[in-house]
Amino acid sequence: MNCKQLLLFGATGDLAGRYVLPALASLHAADQLPSGFTLTGVARQDWSEDQFRRHSRERLERHAPSVPAAARDALIESLRYLRADSKSAEDVARCVRVITAREAGPLVAYLALPAQLFAGTIAALRDAGLPAGSRIAIEKPFGIDLDGARSLNRLLAEVARDVGEHAAYRIDFVLGLATVQNLLPLRMLNPPLAALWDASHIERVEILWEETLAMEGRGSFYDATGGLRDVMQNHMMMALCELAMEPPSDMNERELGDRRVELLRAMRAPSAGDMATQTCRARYTAGRVPTAGGELRAIPSYVDEPGVDGARETETFAQIALDIDNARWRGTRFVLRAGKALERTRKEAVIHFRAPGQVSLHGGSAEVGASTLRIGLDGPEDIALRLHGRAPDAPGQTLPVILTAPPLPSALPAYARVLLDLLSGGSMLSVRGDLAEESWRIVMPVLDAWSEGRVPLRQYPAGSRGPEC
Ligand SMILES: NC(=O)c1ccc[n+]([C@@H]2O[C@H](COP(=O)([O-])OP(=O)(O)OC[C@H]3O[C@@H](n4cnc5c(N)ncnc54)[C@H](OP(=O)(O)O)[C@@H]3O)[C@@H](O)[C@H]2O)c1
Repeated sequence: MNCKQLLLFGATGDLAGRYVLPALASLHAADQLPSGFTLTGVARQDWSEDQFRRHSRERLERHAPSVPAAARDALIESLRYLRADSKSAEDVARCVRVITAREAGPLVAYLALPAQLFAGTIAALRDAGLPAGSRIAIEKPFGIDLDGARSLNRLLAEVARDVGEHAAYRIDFVLGLATVQNLLPLRMLNPPLAALWDASHIERVEILWEETLAMEGRGSFYDATGGLRDVMQNHMMMALCELAMEPPSDMNERELGDRRVELLRAMRAPSAGDMATQTCRARYTAGRVPTAGGELRAIPSYVDEPGVDGARETETFAQIALDIDNARWRGTRFVLRAGKALERTRKEAVIHFRAPGQVSLHGGSAEVGASTLRIGLDGPEDIALRLHGRAPDAPGQTLPVILTAPPLPSALPAYARVLLDLLSGGSMLSVRGDLAEESWRIVMPVLDAWSEGRVPLRQYPAGSRGPEC
């Protein structure tokens, strides 16, 4: 069922202006928003509707410059604003009353709020009498630990009892990335890949989420979160699922969800004894990072960033090596690495095939390393298959043979695909509740070991490749 009414909590925030509004504008441009669509922004600022519209216009000019102005204007026209504190159940109920008085039918309440407000806001929405078929979309991080995720799931189950089983929608934009949506088809549609996709042929899989960006004014948010909670427990685990899960018999919501959960259930967190060798955490010291224009920008030490309390020992770099205990993957190492203020931005999966070792060639024998397949996940990265060939003029030596393909052309940003699924009543791109919990189960022992100081906190200069782990 289509939801025409979007109640956006946190509508004046960074996420709303950077991703949600631009995605809605691209859906407008593609004529894919339900007719009569209205967005009601909610925040505590004492703004008029005009102020909210002016703010939104400015955000769209900055973050959606390629969307035709007519589509941006049409979206602005559909914006409303309500001042409310989501900590107040009465305020939340008032927002729901205003929307339902305006138009009958289901609504989507989208929580683009600080994560500590999720539980209270969901409880207030549960008690506010949402129309049947309504949905609550929750941004990541879904909880700050396993217990938190479980209690959010319990609350959402209560909402679902009142308004319908599709009430909960857990957002992870990575499931909307065209590149990530292509991972499973790439494996399934290409027999050479399908035949090699196991531990006999793949030694190691890396998932990298490396950024040149540092805190950019968001130090207090990041300091309470850290790299492991910010991107590894959610975005990177979702990409790992698409890379490693068993192909489903049918590409439907249930089959896909089941295969993802099965994979994470087979995944082993590092044991207490292996924590120091299989995990690595660090934070950056002062340095210089490259900008988009190619210049170098000075970055202070993480501990000197505004909003950061150095005593918390929050990691800006996180690495975990994981094993999957199933027939396909026993013997392959999965390495997840995320970092801020690094030498370059790369968000990609790298598949390292097993190296053939010593190979006899004309004119001698050569030690041949691993062939790799690199798949860009988010950004301008392409797909590159790096093979080895014989060097024509150097007997007994090899040369790299690199086959590359540009990124897939895609008209819609990832958030637009997610919003389309959400507004049209689907759940193909929602993170299932049990999947979120499984992912927390894997990272909890690491978080505990780090917070108890069982793994040393290393340092790396901003603008470097990160620490040697
Ligand atoms: N920014 C990103 O790139 C990004 C990416 C993925 C996920 N997320 C997630 O999205 C959520 C929002 O992040 P953000 O970066 O947009 O944060 P933000 O810039 O700090 O914005 C927070 C928003 O929530 C509103 N708000 C705060 N307390 C409120 C309350 N008690 N009642 C009503 N509104 C309240 C704020 O407006 P007022 O202060 O005026 O009330 C503001 O509109 C977080 O859970 C974050 O983890 C963010």
